[in-house]
Amino acid sequence: MGKRRMWLNEKKKDHYYKKAKKENLRSRAAFKLIQLNEKFKFKLIKKGDSVLDLGCAPGGWLKAIKNLVGEKGIVVGVDLQPITPIPQVKFVLGDITDENTIAEIKEYNSSFDVITSDCSPNVSGNWEVDHARQIYLAEMSLEICQQLLCEGGNFVVKVFQGELFEDFIEKMKQMFEKVIISKPDASRKRSSEIYVVGRQYDPKYS
Ligand SMILES: C[S@@+](CC[C@H](N)C(=O)[O-])C[C@H]1O[C@@H](n2cnc3c(N)ncnc32)[C@H](O)[C@@H]1O
Repeated sequence: MGKRRMWLNEKKKDHYYKKAKKENLRSRAAFKLIQLNEKFKFKLIKKGDSVLDLGCAPGGWLKAIKNLVGEKGIVVGVDLQPITPIPQVKFVLGDITDENTIAEIKEYNSSFDVITSDCSPNVSGNWEVDHARQIYLAEMSLEICQQLLCEGGNFVVKVFQGELFEDFIEKMKQMFEKVIISKPDASRKRSSEIYVVGRQYDPKYS
């Protein structure tokens, strides 16, 4: 059996893949965010929040976020790839490292209660290169917090573990009251990805 066929077969048997299909959630990745939101005593995302989702395609997190914030919440997603529209969710097609993208987000909302980032680069297979590229996207997401996250706001970011990980955590600790590292059950054990939650953004330390 070819590698792609094996991958497709494995995907179809996957518990979270089936669950995402059943619950109409676009991607199994949605459960990572749902589990993170349920894991702590505090709620990362709550009803009525405004949330910016960086690297949002195909839209699994966006749908989960929309369910959490309800009718009154504001949800904006950004990605290099287009997505199939989601009712009452704004979408910006663009690169998160580009100032024009930030300007476009600001047209919808300029201060968010929560920023989430599940950005991944196109993986090259060279581990050091992929790790460095992904950390760069996580750092860009952190910079966006300095422009668009409200005081006391929360941040969730995916990070590939590697030698640059500790420096990134130190940066987050300077900006947030509390920093928590977490691997949700829906994240595959063999994947080096981990999620970092920053609670209560303090702009004076940015
Ligand atoms: C793992 S996927 C996100 C899955 C999403 N959370 C979901 O639940 O459907 C990572 C995304 O990051 C996006 N991405 C990577 N680099 C980006 C950049 N510079 N600007 C915007 N999006 C980027 C990719 O296009 C890709 O869609």
